[in-house]
Amino acid sequence: MSNVYVFDHPLIQHKVTYIRDKNTGTKEFRELVDEVAALMAYEITRDMPLQEVTVETPVSEAKCKVLAGKKLGLVPILRAGLGMVDGILRLIPAAKVGHIGLYRDPETLEPVQYYAKMPSDIGERELIVIDPMLATGGSAAEAIRRIKDMGAKNIKLMCLIAAPEGIERVRQDHGDVDIYVAAVDEKLDENSYIVPGLGDAGDRLYGTR
Ligand code: PRP
Ligand code: URA
Repeated sequence: MSNVYVFDHPLIQHKVTYIRDKNTGTKEFRELVDEVAALMAYEITRDMPLQEVTVETPVSEAKCKVLAGKKLGLVPILRAGLGMVDGILRLIPAAKVGHIGLYRDPETLEPVQYYAKMPSDIGERELIVIDPMLATGGSAAEAIRRIKDMGAKNIKLMCLIAAPEGIERVRQDHGDVDIYVAAVDEKLDENSYIVPGLGDAGDRLYGTR
């Protein structure tokens, strides 16, 4: 069964507070999501394998470490996942980015796919699926199912805010996928919005309504 990691670093918690605040405007919201994504990327890569290399410093030879192992791929779930991409790419510029477009039908709450484009070598990459919100879990579970169909084998899910229902859904459908979040909230409301959450992540990022 997948593990769930809650990143409780004080900087992450501090910034998520302002992301939640309804008085935070679009520009600041976007900047904060970008910053939290970068901080979460720092945490999520903590156990990446290293290998030893030798470099010449101006003084002598030095045995040092560089990243080893599988290359990374990011898969934002459009639209809101896009808001987290640049923050992560600042730390891991060599990561390739696949996109999957899904929206949650407001009536049925079922995810509807409208786009998918992945790197050709996704089967050989460690993939991080990113979306600020994990509510019912329908969108994330479907995105993961689709990218597995396209050959993905090694997947992590990274979200800002999750509801217990969403975590449960992903764990049931994809027991091999570990989940990384900044906060686990109380519940979903009658429209399946996360309570207290942050509202509609896509609308707050892009100023739509
Ligand atoms: C939001 C969010 C997730 C989804 C979460 O996207 O970014 O993808 O809802 O809800 P779920 O866990 O119940 O599936 P939305 O459908 O609003 O699309 P958008 O990003 O295009 O605004
Ligand atoms: N999608 C959002 O953007 N926010 C929620 O609270 C739930 C789904």
